[in-house]
Amino acid sequence: MGAGKGGQEFSRRQVLSTAGLAAVAVPLAANAKVGASRKAAALIRRAGAAGAPQPEQLHVQFGADAAQQVAVSWATPAQVPMPRLRLGSASGGHGTEVPAQERVYTEALTGETVWTYHATLDNLLPSTQYSYQVLHDGATPVPGMFRTGPRGRSRGFRFTSFGDQAVPAAVGLGLGPHTPNAGYIVPAVESLDPLFHLFNGDLCYANVSDAPVQTWQSFFNNNARSAANRPWMPSAGNHENEVGNGPQGYLAYQTRFEVPDNGSAEFRGNWYAFTVGSVRVISLNNDDVCLQDGGFSGFRRDHVPTYVSNGDNPYINGYSSGAQRAWLESELANARLSDDIDWIVVCMHQVAMSSAHFNGADLGIRQQWLPLFDKYGVDLVVAGHEHHFERSFPVRGTLSGSGLLTPAPQSSDPSLMDTSNGTVHMIIGGGGHSAPTPVAGFDTPHDGVLITSVGPGSPQSQHPAMTTTEPAPWSAYRDLQTPYGFAAFDFVPHEPGGTTSITVTHYGAALGSPTYTPLDQFVMRKPLDSLVGGNQLAGAAATR
Ligand SMILES: [Fe+2]
Ligand SMILES: [Fe+2]
Repeated sequence: MGAGKGGQEFSRRQVLSTAGLAAVAVPLAANAKVGASRKAAALIRRAGAAGAPQPEQLHVQFGADAAQQVAVSWATPAQVPMPRLRLGSASGGHGTEVPAQERVYTEALTGETVWTYHATLDNLLPSTQYSYQVLHDGATPVPGMFRTGPRGRSRGFRFTSFGDQAVPAAVGLGLGPHTPNAGYIVPAVESLDPLFHLFNGDLCYANVSDAPVQTWQSFFNNNARSAANRPWMPSAGNHENEVGNGPQGYLAYQTRFEVPDNGSAEFRGNWYAFTVGSVRVISLNNDDVCLQDGGFSGFRRDHVPTYVSNGDNPYINGYSSGAQRAWLESELANARLSDDIDWIVVCMHQVAMSSAHFNGADLGIRQQWLPLFDKYGVDLVVAGHEHHFERSFPVRGTLSGSGLLTPAPQSSDPSLMDTSNGTVHMIIGGGGHSAPTPVAGFDTPHDGVLITSVGPGSPQSQHPAMTTTEPAPWSAYRDLQTPYGFAAFDFVPHEPGGTTSITVTHYGAALGSPTYTPLDQFVMRKPLDSLVGGNQLAGAAATR
């Protein structure tokens, strides 16, 4: 199976590399076949199991060093004996067995226990395709594959990103968001053969569902068509806060993912970093700093049996007491000092800038994160939360005299940007939610929208957000018409002339359409020579 799949991927790559931008659109017929055949295979496996618990919900993650560390995670409907992974080369030969770690949680709403398994792999070869099977005693092995990251600046790669996906069909009473596009976007991403995918939070919205465990199951089984074959690296959004599941509501998220260690047992998985090539990726949990009360769920308030007796509170602003910020500053300082890192990419959920009256941007992010992004020269931020596509010019410091800390643009060309001058922020929140940012929600004239505070609230009553508008000279591009989409990032570590670049393409689709077409493209390029030691940032750090 590994050989056949590998051949399929090679043929896709051939098409992409020879046909240019227009051909990057998903080849629908072929794509539909891939999705259908994999779905059929999954159904056959389940039917043959005759009620025995089988591995499902496969997904791959990178370890801290993507060149040699990968984790494979899955779930089963009940506890299983001897869960393990068999590792093989791209052509098969699964001779190496790795035992899986079992991690469980009990859903506070329903009392269901969820069984998850995680096999961590180390000392892998860089830029190498592997195949694997996950299984347990009595199970039919379930296959997948992954490719490790390159070592250093040896080669470029592609990654993709979106947030706010939800699930492709109604689960339980259908209270949670669901659209066909939450399904269509998976083969669209997969057809581009990215090395990895960054998921910018609000994964499946289980916190508003009467059936949260089945919502996660739908989410992972939908995404396994890609996530079983390449790392999908998450950040936790406000809808990962399932109040009652652990102190901050993140216990399902923490249990289901195996992401790089952040040194904190208490906040395991909430923030982390990994290196892929000469790119350092940092995933943050913004609810720690956001003013907005985004974790509130009326359904959980009314139906989690222990909500009142446990004193559960979904409003978790400040929950890490500065631990995340201290970790972030240390991570950024190390990345900027490293001669092996040329790009710093942050994956997070809520945004620092938005031009829509949807949620709006959050002043807490500007207060807590942006001074660090400026000081250490973060190149790119990918986020979601706003359910549309929008991007900024490189920003650094704030507009003169701005009490709202409005970020200051450092250039005005929307198609070519030098991120050694500032951070490019992207909102990529069209993963599939059934309520995209409406056209009427975009501010006219083209201003920014910012949450500056919240009104009174309690665990029983959501704090209302107080918003204002501001000038938006930072805004480089926004798409008012296209509800669904994702972005692809083509990274080149070293170009003739001594530069490095990332070319970004946004692919969009209409509701109900499986066709994701390229709608926007821009290039981030900067000189490699100026990066060593990060000295170019010494002056910039003093601007705010
Ligand atoms: Fe969302
Ligand atoms: Fe959100």
